[in-house]
Amino acid sequence: MRIATRVDEMKSIAKEYRKKGKRISFVPTMGYLHEGHLSLVDIARKDGDICVVSIFVNPIQFGPGEDYERYPRDVERDERLLEQRGCDVLFYPSASEMYPEDFLTRVRVEKLSSILCGKSRPGHFEGVTTVVLKLFNIVKPHVAVFGEKDYQQLVIIKRMVRDLNLDVEIVAGEIIREKDGLAMSSRNVYLDPVERKQATCLFRSMLLAQDMVKAGIRDTKTIVEAVGGFIKKFDRARIDYVKIVHPDTLEELEEIHDRARILLAVYFGKARLIDNMEIDVS
Ligand code: PAF
Repeated sequence: MRIATRVDEMKSIAKEYRKKGKRISFVPTMGYLHEGHLSLVDIARKDGDICVVSIFVNPIQFGPGEDYERYPRDVERDERLLEQRGCDVLFYPSASEMYPEDFLTRVRVEKLSSILCGKSRPGHFEGVTTVVLKLFNIVKPHVAVFGEKDYQQLVIIKRMVRDLNLDVEIVAGEIIREKDGLAMSSRNVYLDPVERKQATCLFRSMLLAQDMVKAGIRDTKTIVEAVGGFIKKFDRARIDYVKIVHPDTLEELEEIHDRARILLAVYFGKARLIDNMEIDVS
């Protein structure tokens, strides 16, 4: 596996592969890799000739008082995992390499960035779209793979690619869960044993929503109240939001007719966990 830490290094590697006619697939990450990330690497490898993974804990997507400093990091372990999984190039820049002192630009997808997680994390998605566009320009991928776990992020990136006419195909990877249903996340390490146990209520609450829809309930208010009521039974959980939205526009739905997605954000102690699930109306 080749490792690039400088922007110009990564750019010339990308140019070299493009010149040879290779299809570059890309998985951007913030490291501390788990099976969720590695499943995206598998998709990228199938969909391209050269798989590039970036590890960069992006300071501008963390708000003041958020977990930038204590975000878990273990790049040596990540390198081993990526090597084993067949990644070809690791791009691992420093913060000063990505953001020199005179950096001034921000990329923002209006509306979609200020709802749901954007409400409690102002500026977060602007930080994400800015770094993702930079990474696309550096890595020059033909295809980039993002996890559905960060569903709002996926929708925002797809919109940025469309609105800015970027030549990158966006592919979504399914959520990978622990055996008990908890969605894999680097932030799960923040959970103490009691919180970890209770955190399965996110997955279980979404199954409850599915069951209600299967039983013929279409009114989202009724479903959201039941999901919220279920989560509130767990004393360590503090709900940020529970919403049922259209999967493409993220607009809140009053009734479920065909396609819908339930999205949740719940605090457990220091951790803010998000999860989501497609609601199958058939
Ligand atoms: O999903 C993430 O890990 C990050 O938001 C991303 C896409 C790597 C941008 O920093």
